[in-house]
Amino acid sequence: MTTQVLGVSERSLRLAKQYIDAGDVVAFHTETVYGLGADARSDAAVKHIFELKGRPQNNPLIVHVHREFDITSLVDFIPPYAELLAKAYLPGPLTMVYPSSNKVSGLVSCGLNTLAVRVPSSETAQAFLRAVDIPIAAPSANLSKHISPVTAQHVFEDFSGRIPLILDGGKCEGGIESTVLDCTGETPLILRAGLVTQEMIASVAGSCGVYVPKEGEQPRSPGMAYKHYAPKCRTAFFSPEELERAKALYLEEEERGGVPCFFCEDALIRSLDGFRALDLGSSGEEMANRLYELLHRGEEEATLLIGICPKERGGVYEGVLNRLTRAFGG
Ligand code: TXA
Ligand code: MG
Repeated sequence: MTTQVLGVSERSLRLAKQYIDAGDVVAFHTETVYGLGADARSDAAVKHIFELKGRPQNNPLIVHVHREFDITSLVDFIPPYAELLAKAYLPGPLTMVYPSSNKVSGLVSCGLNTLAVRVPSSETAQAFLRAVDIPIAAPSANLSKHISPVTAQHVFEDFSGRIPLILDGGKCEGGIESTVLDCTGETPLILRAGLVTQEMIASVAGSCGVYVPKEGEQPRSPGMAYKHYAPKCRTAFFSPEELERAKALYLEEEERGGVPCFFCEDALIRSLDGFRALDLGSSGEEMANRLYELLHRGEEEATLLIGICPKERGGVYEGVLNRLTRAFGG
């Protein structure tokens, strides 16, 4: 199979609809990362997504719909706070988990009685979702455990020859996956941190918790259980206080003939004169935007990536730190 990479046009949307109607998988741009989409109502199509990614069978998928789609047809109950949040932040990088009305394949939620629903703001995603006009199940378009894709080229590298079409919308500006928010309780609960932050949710919903799995408990967002976003090269991770140890490791790697490279925030770059370094930038938003792109570049260019943890906490940093620690193995 040849994999076509096409921008949005009448022709590419017609092709996308043909592939989706035939039960095939189409990759598409969103404002967070690229998605690997298929008909959420079809067992066979959803199964195909899991097979393509090599994804564990107990890690549920998010259903994507366009902005005019009637979400009440997919879920049993939408609490008032969720309606307020939807008004404030959708379309956008916020996925909301509701009690499911079982209108899509049971494989989407892996047997859970809830359904995660997302309305992406990307114009490419909206055009695709309008063209097919059905709920599209879509995980990030990377092989399971590999770095999430923020360009069509990243998707191509993981799936060329295995999917018919990538809808290219350019680089994903958000850069990290959507916030996953449990909306089945009295108050909202963040299952996966992202660009819509705890502070932003609390300011609309009145309050917002962050789910922390207890020791030995099955996590509520099963995807968070896995080592994830891992580059193919070796990695090491240090706090800013451990910079001297990190430099020693860098020099050791160089002596062995390897290619070490730092991976850190802009404020540290000045103290790394003469060392190779990838610059994550200075704000949480900038770091989210650059994170996966730089991880992709790092795994191409380095044999050892040495991450240094950013100093700030709160806001978008929480999502960035979550991805960073999981990419670098904690
Ligand atoms: O930004 C995004 O969300 C991207 C783009 C493509 O939309 N998608 C994405 O999908 O990141 P994926 O499959 O890589 O991550 C989905 C996350 C996983 O952590 C999964 O466990 C969680 O959402 N999830 C899905 N359905 C759930 C449910 N019913 N209850 C709790 N967590 C759920
Ligand atoms: Mg993913």
